[in-house]
Amino acid sequence: MDVVVVGSVNADLVVRVGRRPAPGETVMGSDLDTFPGGKGANQAVAAARLGADVALLARTGTDQYGARLVEGLAAEGVGVEHVMETEGASGVALITVDAEGDNSIIVSPGANARLTPADVTAAGDLVSGAAVVSLMLEIPLDTVTEAARAARRAVLNASPPRELPGELLALADPLVVNEHEAAFLLGAASADAVSEPAGMARALLALGPRSVVITLGADGAVVAEPPTAGPPGFVDAAAGAPDHAGVPEAAPGGVAAHGDGAPGRPEGAVVTVVPSPVVDVVDTTGAGDAFTGALAWRLALGDTLPEAAGFAAKVGAAAVRREGAQSSYPRGEEL
Ligand code: RIB
Ligand code: NA
Repeated sequence: MDVVVVGSVNADLVVRVGRRPAPGETVMGSDLDTFPGGKGANQAVAAARLGADVALLARTGTDQYGARLVEGLAAEGVGVEHVMETEGASGVALITVDAEGDNSIIVSPGANARLTPADVTAAGDLVSGAAVVSLMLEIPLDTVTEAARAARRAVLNASPPRELPGELLALADPLVVNEHEAAFLLGAASADAVSEPAGMARALLALGPRSVVITLGADGAVVAEPPTAGPPGFVDAAAGAPDHAGVPEAAPGGVAAHGDGAPGRPEGAVVTVVPSPVVDVVDTTGAGDAFTGALAWRLALGDTLPEAAGFAAKVGAAAVRREGAQSSYPRGEEL
């Protein structure tokens, strides 16, 4: 397999609203749309539509959604042999999309909460044999950590944001976050001190992941990697133009730097800024998952991280042009 996703499957119940209700208030919305979703399933479908060989390790429920969600995934070409059924509710996401195309989401985990580290172990070389294992945080953290341990390379989308164990963070290659998730992981103090994206990416790298990608919506993405082995400041030409000509930079003050803690990790970071195509925004739901699934696939094919992020930014941009998550993901031809 190019990509194995260990993650969540949800039914997305979507209503469009002019504005969101305040506490105690009722507003009228659009008719209800039900879309296939879940950050794990979304990553898998994004990769499959682009042509990846991809399988999903997940759990769905015995309610009215479970079987339909699995059928939908299979129809998209995602390997579902390791999607197991758990008695009870499936994961469900209650989503409102406002006039700007921005979403608010409440996730009820259902069967996703029952995906265990033992499920990862039982799947054996499905996980350890994949070129890239793609992860997110809608399943139990110890399951995510077990999958990252088993993986040859783990891509971790830290969404929805949660406190991450050091072991998991250290296995992320890359850690993929948006600006809100980056600020959460850095904590309020460092987020204030480091408010621009390149600085945030360097500060995140200093927390211990092997590499970092911060997605910036219309502004593309920023990639931070440790300096490459080789002469100081050397950057592979294929990686594109780093924003500081490949000269490694020290981590900003106030944040633990590699030099002090992580053995074998040179100090500083090489930061690359990756642009996004300009598009009209209809619905941003699942754009981050499309980005992550596309990134995982391109890394599996051997792209450098900046190359893979550049490709993934195009996929994420295509996904905001249509409604829903999976329903909005592009195929290779469209890109
Ligand atoms: O990232 C978008 C996804 O978040 C939706 O599909 C919803 O299921 C929630 O998990
Ligand atoms: Na969309």
